Amino acid sequence: MSDTDSIMAAGKVAVLTGAGSGFGRELALLCAGRGMKLVLADIQAAALDETLSLLPAGTDALPVICDVAKADQVMALADRTDQRFGATHLLFNNAGVSVGGFSWATTEADWQWVLGVNLMGVVHGVRAFVPRMLEAGTPAHVVNTASAAGFVSVPGSSIYCVSKHAVVTFSECLHHELRSEDAKINVSVLCPAFVSTGILDSARNRPAELAEANPTAAHFAERRRQAITSGRLSAADIAAAVADAVAANRFYILPHEKIKRAIEIRMRDILDGRQPTDTMPK
Ligand SMILES: NC(=O)c1ccc[n+]([C@@H]2O[C@H](COP(=O)([O-])OP(=O)(O)OC[C@H]3O[C@@H](n4cnc5c(N)ncnc54)[C@H](O)[C@@H]3O)[C@@H](O)[C@H]2O)c1
Repeated sequence: MSDTDSIMAAGKVAVLTGAGSGFGRELALLCAGRGMKLVLADIQAAALDETLSLLPAGTDALPVICDVAKADQVMALADRTDQRFGATHLLFNNAGVSVGGFSWATTEADWQWVLGVNLMGVVHGVRAFVPRMLEAGTPAHVVNTASAAGFVSVPGSSIYCVSKHAVVTFSECLHHELRSEDAKINVSVLCPAFVSTGILDSARNRPAELAEANPTAAHFAERRRQAITSGRLSAADIAAAVADAVAANRFYILPHEKIKRAIEIRMRDILDGRQPTDTMPK
């Protein structure tokens, strides 16, 4: 068995953020089905409880309430993982939120909230766990959740796209650094297109101190709802794609084939000096 095969085997330790819903919950179920030990982190206690209730009996799981936008809470998550289970083998930096709106109407609070969770949540996860993984010296895999929005530019979603482009390049830099150090840690970046999850209802977890939302989000809401609810793959399909990518040590995880055409068009626009094409379905 190779190092990559064994990352998601029985007895190995997986830490998943955003484990109370969507991709995080489905990957938790998949990992539990393989007999892994789980640390399930989320900002929403009731959602975590629901995920716990769905796990097979006997699963060794530690639920942790954690706001990934807060560095100290992510450090505490790593401490609790160490204390309970020792070294982490799979880290799924996945918690994320979304807000729409015209770029010129966005509020500072919109930016702080979405970049705090989507970008800094991933950064804090890497800062908290990777040094410990390096010290442990055991094979490990970090999966950062970006999005197809990390490769294209979607009108009405500038904050989200900025956060996800940032996660893609952060993950690429991390990959290069770990290779240059000959570390036993591999990296993947998860970039799905639209999947029906709780993401449309992200504001349920928006902190009160960042409540000031831009007034134009509603302008794009129906288009986003239609795109997301018409997604052909399920959250469980995405979890399966993650497991495949970890086993194969594949860096880019693009479960939706069709989005590759939009990425190609953007790259061609850049290389040929054309105006950007809006590739979003109308
Ligand atoms: N659903 C899609 O179409 C889609 C597509 C591409 C990428 N993504 C990304 O996938 C990831 C998971 O989203 P999902 O679609 O499963 O949505 P979801 O809303 O179903 O799940 C997200 C989870 O993150 C948790 N969360 C929110 N803020 C948090 C915080 N500050 N700290 C800790 N946990 C927090 C929520 O409570 C929720 O349980 C996100 O990063 C999202 O941007 C989603």
